[in-house]
Amino acid sequence: MINQKDLKIRILKPGENIPYSLLLLADETREGINAYIHDSTIFVVEHQDEMIAVCATVMKDEEVMEIINIAVREDYQNNGIGYWLLLEIIKKAREQGYSELIIGTADCAEKQLYLYQKAGFRFSRVIKDFYIRKYPMPIFENGIQLKDMVILSITL
Ligand code: ACO
Repeated sequence: MINQKDLKIRILKPGENIPYSLLLLADETREGINAYIHDSTIFVVEHQDEMIAVCATVMKDEEVMEIINIAVREDYQNNGIGYWLLLEIIKKAREQGYSELIIGTADCAEKQLYLYQKAGFRFSRVIKDFYIRKYPMPIFENGIQLKDMVILSITL
């Protein structure tokens, strides 16, 4: 079990390498990531000087911040780090004066849907055919083709 006291969160500094290997756990392609990453704030989580998680956020407007990519290195998953990171980002969004934080995921992503609701997010809306339009190839998760994106939201 990971001791949360050993986790450090910081913003990636300008000029540091973008952690694509982590970001690619939450997004299918580098092209997809490049479409938003240069306009994002990239938070990274370190454990004993190793980068083990990432969370990229974008400002939708003055009121709303979006978590556009969140990922924990595979060998660290299911240790409470994703939950801890979500709570950290909620705290930061609140401190920065946003009134709403949103996050989107596939309609069939049961772990993510569970985790986001555990962190306080609630279902907001569905973007039909999001994954069909975004990617040139069909994407499958748990044997189900990704089609619609569910947006969850938390009032800060
Ligand atoms: N169904 C439901 N719940 C599940 C499942 C499942 N199949 N598998 C695990 N869980 C539960 C666990 O029991 C745990 O809950 P609990 O602590 O109440 O028992 C919870 O899900 C996982 O919590 P954490 O350990 O805090 O999460 P983790 O550190 O693994 O991070 C994350 C979660 C970020 C989704 C990680 O698994 C990951 O990086 N996945 C790949 C990338 C990804 O899918 N990212 C999100 C895409 S959406 C976006 O980026 C906006």
